[in-house]
Amino acid sequence: MSINLHDDTELCHDGDSYFENKGAIVPPIYQNSLFAFESWDDIDRAFDDPADNFIYSRILNPTVEMAEEKIAKLCRGERAKLCASGMGAISAAIMHCITSGDHIITISNVYGPTNNFLGKYLVEKCGISITYVKGASTDEFEDAITDRTTLIFLESPASMTFELQDLSAIAQLAQKHKIKTVIDNTWASPVFQKPLDLGIDLECHSASKYLCGHSDVVAGVVIGKKVDIDAIINAEHALLGAKMAPLEAWLILRSMRTLSLRMKRHEQSALRIASWLETHPNVSKVYFPGLPSFPQHQLASRQMTGYGGLMSFEIDTSDIGIVKRFVNGLQLFKLGVSWGGHESLVYSPSISYIKELSPDKFKAMGIQIGLVRISIGLEHCEDLIADLAQALDY
Ligand SMILES: Cc1ncc(COP(=O)(O)O)c(C=O)c1O
Repeated sequence: MSINLHDDTELCHDGDSYFENKGAIVPPIYQNSLFAFESWDDIDRAFDDPADNFIYSRILNPTVEMAEEKIAKLCRGERAKLCASGMGAISAAIMHCITSGDHIITISNVYGPTNNFLGKYLVEKCGISITYVKGASTDEFEDAITDRTTLIFLESPASMTFELQDLSAIAQLAQKHKIKTVIDNTWASPVFQKPLDLGIDLECHSASKYLCGHSDVVAGVVIGKKVDIDAIINAEHALLGAKMAPLEAWLILRSMRTLSLRMKRHEQSALRIASWLETHPNVSKVYFPGLPSFPQHQLASRQMTGYGGLMSFEIDTSDIGIVKRFVNGLQLFKLGVSWGGHESLVYSPSISYIKELSPDKFKAMGIQIGLVRISIGLEHCEDLIADLAQALDY
């Protein structure tokens, strides 16, 4: 009798027999660039279907494929393609859905480099037009649809202030208009949010965050139906060359064995820290979808089964000197970009945005000078609270 396995068990064991490698409990790394064939006919047959035959490791590699199969299963997708970075996966997924002159709808607080790719690169080089919506109401998407709209690009929760979009409502709307939907699902991870089950066409992750989780790999992945992923493998992936290295795929396989365990710890600590911050006199606002006070908490608890470890809060000041003092005063939280690893991190958007944007644009994005983002790592939660408490005592 076969057992219906939970994600936790699948994450530990799925693919164990993939290599049937002399009983080795951890699979080997296939560190090869090409595959040799017995005969002309064999290689000729392989070329008939390059998305399903090992020919050259820029396209397919057994170690990479093993990680892809595990991710696809976790996301309830038919196939996944690992890429060199999150941006490699996101740009491949977007390019798959558009041709020159098309129209894309996305959210105004989409991750910065995704915004640059959509709003600058594609607009200037491919004649794409973009409409930005806040995204809290599905009507905004409906109102923005034109007869050239081919893609709705979502990120839920979104970067920095974590607004949500209603994934099943938007998926239904898009299907009605034959528009593709792509989501950046990095924040929630596939453990806590399954967008493909809600009708979204393609799911992307920066695997540099939770999927790898140890801050030692930059990687990305796109998951969806086989027909879409095969097309991406043959075009955007093969031609633009953003391939995943076998060693990095192997590190992701290692990390996925502890993914659900890590996510539960990130969530548990983040919920406790967000509630603690909410009561701190020097904190004016906390942005974390897991908090009952978060304006879209109901939607969050409907479409996610848990919350990640990334949140933002506003220090009650418009003096950047105080924000600097807080950030420099932290001892356990390291100052740096990225997130989702074992280590807790702090970052202030004022560091980069102030250089790039006018104060008006900064305000229009709803971002205050006092906003800081923290990624809750795997340290003891009370130690993290103690660190935040001493740094907030400026
Ligand atoms: C929400 C989100 N999406 C995508 C990316 C891009 O991923 P990568 O850095 O792996 O290209 C990041 C990176 O910080 C991110 O935060």
